[in-house]
Amino acid sequence: MKDVWITQLRDKQSAMDQFRQAAHQLGRWLALEIASLVESVPCLVSSPLAETAGSRVNQEVVLVPIVRAGLALLPAFMDVFPRARVAFLGLRRNEETAQAEEYYANIPKLRGNETVIVLDPMLATGGSAILTCERLVQAGVEPSRLMMASVIGAPEGMNALIQAIPQIQLVVAQMDSHLNEQKFIVPGLGDFGDRYFGTDE
Ligand code: PRP
Ligand code: URA
Repeated sequence: MKDVWITQLRDKQSAMDQFRQAAHQLGRWLALEIASLVESVPCLVSSPLAETAGSRVNQEVVLVPIVRAGLALLPAFMDVFPRARVAFLGLRRNEETAQAEEYYANIPKLRGNETVIVLDPMLATGGSAILTCERLVQAGVEPSRLMMASVIGAPEGMNALIQAIPQIQLVVAQMDSHLNEQKFIVPGLGDFGDRYFGTDE
């Protein structure tokens, strides 16, 4: 199904509600992939018939949506990690330089045992992701506890992120071909935030 939702996101004919539906489905896919990589907690469970070994989702998790577009992935991740703390970083790319610029931050002091998951559907040059990870390391996270979930990644951005933070675990639903001169992902889907929030006119 993942490819069907990616196709619906790419399609320039998809209306805002169809775009949101596909984004939420892919958020669910990404959240389950990430959960399978976060070490689970062994526990005992009592069925109506017997006690047996089981496992629970590790809830020592902090979610970090990069505002705006990262907010699209937040509901699915909060569903899978219901007790996760949430930190916010607001970034926008300068339209001329494509450099990420910070306009909002609400990042608590991070505890050493927490897994910190950055959410952003688009990984283009990697500038936004790298800036976010740098801010999180300043706030106390060990680089080896960083994870990132993206819907579409460009090879340029994925390589830049892994070079900057080699310990990060990156999950991308779809790797695309390249960036164009304006640093948009090709074939990509256009501007995710504008299509998701209806600000593309
Ligand atoms: C988009 C996207 C990422 C960033 C990716 O945000 O949501 O945050 O660009 O590009 P990069 O890898 O080159 O940094 P945008 O600046 O359009 O802001 P928005 O989320 O408010 O739409
Ligand atoms: N941000 C987007 O929304 N789309 C791109 O292709 C690149 C950055």
